[in-house]
Amino acid sequence: MFKNIIKRNLTTIKIYRNNNNISKMDKFIFDKNDCGPMVLDALIHIKNNIDKTLSFRRSCREGICGSCAMNINGKNTLACLKPIEEKLSIYPLPHMPVIRDLVTDLTTFYEQYKSIKPWLENSNKGKELYQSQKDRKKLDGMYECILCACCSTSCPSYWWNGDKYLGPAVLMQAYRWVQDSRDQISKERMEFLDDAMKLYRCKTIMNCSNTCPKGLNPGQAIGELKLKISNELH
Ligand code: SF4
Ligand code: SF4
Ligand code: FES
Repeated sequence: MFKNIIKRNLTTIKIYRNNNNISKMDKFIFDKNDCGPMVLDALIHIKNNIDKTLSFRRSCREGICGSCAMNINGKNTLACLKPIEEKLSIYPLPHMPVIRDLVTDLTTFYEQYKSIKPWLENSNKGKELYQSQKDRKKLDGMYECILCACCSTSCPSYWWNGDKYLGPAVLMQAYRWVQDSRDQISKERMEFLDDAMKLYRCKTIMNCSNTCPKGLNPGQAIGELKLKISNELH
């Protein structure tokens, strides 16, 4: 007798919209059974079935590319790793220029990443470069970063000085290359970073580590980087 009764499983999602600098919140209510389990599935459902104009970034849908970073229920995270809840509020990454809806302009973030030379510098071209297991282990917890920018855009120092302070994501990658035993310019790298604005704007508030959707600890990496610079340059 009850077999034709389908249980409704509603979710209410409020989404920040911005088009041509006009911003508003839009509310969408639909059945969670109509889409996959993650917030990214919900956004794709809305775009495909309710409002084609909704703009957001995504690619891998499995926490690898970092494209779908956004602020969900007050925390920066990846939409593809965050399960849908009964009520959701979704905003773009905080304090970043908005291009449209949930899409932010990350040009400065990528320029800052480029500035730390995120590649191996070694003059022994074409030769195999050995690394001990102990040295390789030093990169654990840093090489896994997917550059989603969740940490940098949760950092109050980056909010106020994002044009000069490199922020936790870029600083952890800078430290990743400083720590690489195969790299030959670690001193030059540290001299570049040893700057009141680029590095020492970090006040160890640790928002960055609290929000990282990959469970990494950029706040700790910055602390270790400061200590290494203090021991080896000063
Ligand atoms: S440290 Fe974490 S939050 Fe920051 S960019 Fe890397 S993966 Fe994203
Ligand atoms: S620990 Fe440093 S980088 Fe991380 S949120 Fe705090 S000030 Fe920002
Ligand atoms: S879509 Fe790639 S991390 Fe979410």
